[in-house]
Parts: sequence; structure tokens; C-alpha cells
Amino acid sequence: MTYQVIARKWRPQSFADLVGQEHVTETLANAIKMNRVAHAYIFSGARGVGKTTAARILAKALNCVNGPTAEPCGECDSCKEIAAGSSLDVIEIDAASNRGIDQIRELREMVRYAPAASRSKVVILDEAHMLTGEASNALLKTLEEPPERVIFVMATTQPEDLEDTIRSRSQHFHFRALTFNEIISRLQYIAEKEGLKIDDGALSVMARMAEGSMRDALSLLEQARAYCGDDIHDEPVRNLLGVVPEDSLQELVEAIAGQSAERALGLVHIFQKEGRNLQHFCREAIRHMRNLLIARVCGADSDLIAATPEQRPGLAKAAALFSEEDLTRYFQILLQTENDLRHKSDPRVHLEMGLLRMVNAARLAPLEELLAQARGGAGGGSQGGTAPRSTGSGSATPSFPSRSASASAFSPQSETKPMATSAWGASGIAAAAAPARTPEPTKQSSAAALAIKCSGAGQRKSIHPRLRAHQNRSGRICRGGPDRGTSGRNQKHPSGTAEIYRGIAGARVALGARRRRIANLFSAGEEHVRGINRRA
Ligand SMILES: Nc1ncnc2c1ncn2[C@@H]1O[C@H](COP(=O)(O)OP(=O)(O)OP(=O)(O)O)[C@@H](O)[C@H]1O
Ligand SMILES: [Mg+2]
Ligand SMILES: [Zn+2]
Repeated sequence: MTYQVIARKWRPQSFADLVGQEHVTETLANAIKMNRVAHAYIFSGARGVGKTTAARILAKALNCVNGPTAEPCGECDSCKEIAAGSSLDVIEIDAASNRGIDQIRELREMVRYAPAASRSKVVILDEAHMLTGEASNALLKTLEEPPERVIFVMATTQPEDLEDTIRSRSQHFHFRALTFNEIISRLQYIAEKEGLKIDDGALSVMARMAEGSMRDALSLLEQARAYCGDDIHDEPVRNLLGVVPEDSLQELVEAIAGQSAERALGLVHIFQKEGRNLQHFCREAIRHMRNLLIARVCGADSDLIAATPEQRPGLAKAAALFSEEDLTRYFQILLQTENDLRHKSDPRVHLEMGLLRMVNAARLAPLEELLAQARGGAGGGSQGGTAPRSTGSGSATPSFPSRSASASAFSPQSETKPMATSAWGASGIAAAAAPARTPEPTKQSSAAALAIKCSGAGQRKSIHPRLRAHQNRSGRICRGGPDRGTSGRNQKHPSGTAEIYRGIAGARVALGARRRRIANLFSAGEEHVRGINRRA
């Protein structure tokens, strides 16, 4: 017998064998038991998650000599023929290459005749979303009222592209992507049956690369066996698949934590020298950063992380080096870098720039926040910032000014002097900017809360009562009145308001200077990278 690849050899032959799709298999098994099988199904889901396999098992279940049964024997002629793909009553059509009206007319003719040797005729239309509009229309009548004992299964990776008229005539099952653990277990099971020795690192690399597709995982196993023989180890598999070594990711994390531009740029240099794909490294770094972020937010045991139990303590340790908002920021920078690598020439420069931005992110963060806040304020709202929401977590990197420290910049004395000019200086606004994104504003001092309100959309509503109190204390009457606001141009500002405006003007000047400094910093960074490239 000719050689069969692992994915085909180990195609599940019963509903119980199909991994991770219990919501589909149980419903189908019940329908068979209760004799309520529909005449048209849509099986949708990503590539290699079991759609065609489930359709074939359904055909076997209906036609098994013991059936219809949810557990086909696999031994009878019908079961064997269907498994081998040679049954006359199971018609598999690739709709991607038979998408026209003529082919559908032929199909309609074919299904008019009773099954040759079985109980039911099963038509499996693969990639059904590729049918032309005319072909779909030609199929409607047959789908709605098919001949006796004919069942249609339309498999598709893009159910949204199916005609609505087809969807409304069918029962729709969505096949989900398989989890990391489900793929690992299946790989282990098959490796054991095939007599392969495979270590955990290699398994985890393959499961991760498969991205939820069991067929992809089995194809990778096939490839690894061809390369390594029956003893499959982590290192050669990584080399074969071009996967970045785990210690490079570790090195990247340490470079960021230690703010070492040299180490980060050294990594890029090594990759370039070894001829590795930089975009691939960037994607691996994104995945790693995502894992760290989830470990930070949900704990390293979370199911959301695709990692083996041995890798988890390392992730927890690395995640503890950063705050949630640091990690979010790195994640965003990497996503942007990956986009640059894809669309712009000279990937090395863009990767280097991206890594430098991460190394310097902790230093740049407060300035970015300041600018974001200034933009948010100008737009009339205090939520306009692009920087991530602060959690007030105490584990921020040392150079990151802690949010609670910023809030406490408003001393208890300033509470008794709510309109103190100093609170409106540049640093006052910066201090106000951070608490504006904290989830529990009630924890801040009332002076800080007032400053936040005054800095954005809340300005009109909130200045007045306080201002009036201030003016009443100093024996003056506010002419604008509480309803009309103080920001009207032709209104006479009482002296307290004038002080505020002077404060705001001062803050704007300071912001301008900071913006220029940031721009200089970025152009210095770019110049630095150009220098490195010239030398390389
Ligand atoms: N849920 C699963 N459990 C076990 N093995 C699976 C599963 N899904 C896929 N496989 C393996 O992958 C192979 C391909 O699966 P199948 O042909 O059913 O995928 P598909 O969903 O139809 O993919 P495509 O959309 O690419 O046609 C099977 O032969 C089987 O070995
Ligand atoms: Mg298929
Ligand atoms: Zn059978």
C-alpha cells in the first residue's frame, strides 16, 4: 500500500475521535438517535479543524450496516468505502473548482436518483462559499426540498460569504479552532501510536505554529519526522521551522527591563547574521509579549497562554518585571513594528527602531501621556489619550512615575486653595493627566478631582461652584453666573479666572517645549540606527 501522510492516516473515524468539536458531534449524534437528521448542513470553521472529517463520519453514521447509528462500526463495506473515499453514495465536490451553474445542474441531476447501495446519499460541498451567485440560486430549490434520502453538507471557511438564501435553508455548525492543549494531546497520542519519541519543547513549538489547526499540526509532525527521524527534539525542530529560540525572547525581555539599547540591537545583529526572518522574530516577540501581558493580568496558569507547564514559571517571573500598562505599551509598539516590517522596505531599520522604542518606552511614557492628555483636553474630553489605562499597579518600572505619587502631588493644603496657580503649571497638568485614567477617581484628593474636571470637558460645569465659593470668600461676585460658564470670550473674568488662564497659557508654552524635546529624541534615535547600519 502506498504511504499515507499522518494527517490522512489518523483522520478520526468516529464522532468520539474528533477532538474539541463536542458541540457539533453531540448534536449530530442526538439527531441521528432521534431520527431527526436535517437535509442541509453548513459546517464552517478555520482550515483543518475537522469539517470534512465530520461530514464523512455523518455519512458513515447514516449508512453503516448497523445504522443509522451515532457509532458506525467502521468494519462494514459501507464504512470502509466511505473511509477510503470510494463510496458511490458519498459525493464530494470541490466547489472552488466546480463553482458554475453547469456543475450545479449536473449535481441536481445526480441527486435525483436513489442511492446506489446505501440508505442515504450524502453530498459534501467543500468551500461552498466559492459557488457563483447563479450556481447558489440554482441550488436553492434542491436544498429546500431535496429528493428523498439526500443530505447536503456544505463545508466552508468563510460562512459570511454564503448567500443568505442558502444559509436560511440549512443548519449551521461552527467548528472552533483547537486549543494548544488539545493539539498537544493529539500529537502525543499519534506520536505514541507511530512509535515516535518527541520532547515537550518540540511538541509545544509545533502546537503553537499550528495556530489552532489540527491538520497543520500533523503536517508539522510529518515534516519533523522526515528531518529528525523517530527521535524528535526541540532544537532541530526550531531550526527546521525557523522558530526563534526561546532564549532570544528572554534576551529581549531582559534588554527592555534593563533599558539596554545595546543588547536589543545586538539581537537584531545576530538574527541578521544568521539569516533569520526578522518579521518572523517580530511575530514571535508579539506572541511572547501577549503571553507576558496575560500572565500579568490573569496569572501564568491561565488557559489563554499557549505554553507548557514548564514554561509558565519563567513567564510569571518575566511578567513581574513590568506593569500591565508597560506590557500593553510594548505590545502596541511591536504590533506597529510588525506592520512596518510588512509594508516598508529595510526591515532591519524598522525592527531596530521598534526595539529602541521599547527600551526607551519607560522614559518616553510620561511625555507621551502628557501629549495625549493635551490632545484630549484640546478635543474637549479627558479620555482622548492613546496611552493605556493605568491600573495603579505598584510594580511599575522604577523610572515610571507612580500614578498615586502623581495624585499626591496635590498636597492637603492645596485642597483648601483650590485655585492655586501652581496647580495649573505644566507639572500640575501632568500630575492631573495621570489620575484622569485611573479607574477609581474617588480615591483622589478633591483638589486633584477638581483639576481633572477643569482640564477637560468638565470645565464649564465644574469651575463655577468652586470659583464662586472662592470669590464669595474674597468678597467679589461672579458676573457670569453659574449657568453661563466663564470661558466666553467677551465675558469679564474675575481675577481668579484670569489666574487660571495665565496658568493654562504657561502650561501650553511648557508643553510646546516638551514636544520639541520628544521630536529631538526620536530623530536622535533614528540617526543612531542609521549610524549602526552604516557601520554594519
Ligand atoms: N477535530 C479534530 N480532531 C482530530 N483530528 C483532526 C481534527 N480536525 C482535523 N483533524 C486532522 O486534520 C485532518 C484534516 O481535517 P479535515 O479535512 O476535516 O479539515 P477541514 O476542517 O475540512 O479543513 P479544510 O477547511 O482545510 O478543508 C484530518 O485528517 C485529521 O487528521
Ligand atoms: Mg475540508
Ligand atoms: Zn459500519
